[in-house]
Amino acid sequence: HKVCVLIAAAGMGKRMRLSQNKQYLPIHGKPMIRHTIEVFDALEAIDKIILLIRSGEEEMMRNILNTMELQHEVSIVLGGDERQDSIWEGLRYLQDFDGIILTHDGARPFVTEREILSVIEGARSSGACCLMTPMKDTVKISEDGNWAQFTPDRSKLYAIQTPQGFHKEVLIHAYKQAYEEGYYGTDDCSLVEKTGKKIRLIRGSYKNIKITTPEDLIFADAIYSDRMEE
Ligand code: CTP
Ligand code: MG
Repeated sequence: HKVCVLIAAAGMGKRMRLSQNKQYLPIHGKPMIRHTIEVFDALEAIDKIILLIRSGEEEMMRNILNTMELQHEVSIVLGGDERQDSIWEGLRYLQDFDGIILTHDGARPFVTEREILSVIEGARSSGACCLMTPMKDTVKISEDGNWAQFTPDRSKLYAIQTPQGFHKEVLIHAYKQAYEEGYYGTDDCSLVEKTGKKIRLIRGSYKNIKITTPEDLIFADAIYSDRMEE
């Protein structure tokens, strides 16, 4: 099986409250997205890297790629309005590809090679899988954010990360069905679940954070320093 990764980097990073897309923010002097690309580029198990980016940011992204010594061919494809639309653009670009597809958030630069390999293996054996960590916080359901209705049992809650991995046909089928039903999800596995297929959960690391709000940059620096000491 060939393996292709779709890196979603076409967001706006609104919750970061900056004027620019968060993926270009420096972490220890290198743009966040560069850290993310480097992890995948270092892996021989990966055959193809597709970067989904926002229109208007092509030049910025090409400049970053030009400063890198890449082992892989990296294709730039324009994303869409929602993350799901961006991944769909990537899938359309991959019409002639057959094999395993990984989806990954550009804003998760601390994923490790070992985690990626475990997702590839999970996708091969189960057709659909993702990384998870057991929830540490108690979670409440609230319709309006002011009054809580319900507290799900924490021992059954898992925080879901990327990469997520799929047999291509599993993912394509799920995306087609989601668009037919007008369903929008915040991750790719939620689309696959709707087709009735079970998702294999693979234990990940609490360090594989998604950089979302400004304080995540504090954690990012700490995780980066910790890695350098390993
Ligand atoms: N993403 C994307 N296309 C979109 C929206 C998001 O490729 N239309 C990507 C983001 O670039 C990010 C990943 O999906 O790497 C996870 O999304 P999120 O953390 O929500 O990033 P943003 O959508 O950029 O941030 P926000 O929701 O705060 O605006
Ligand atoms: Mg978003």
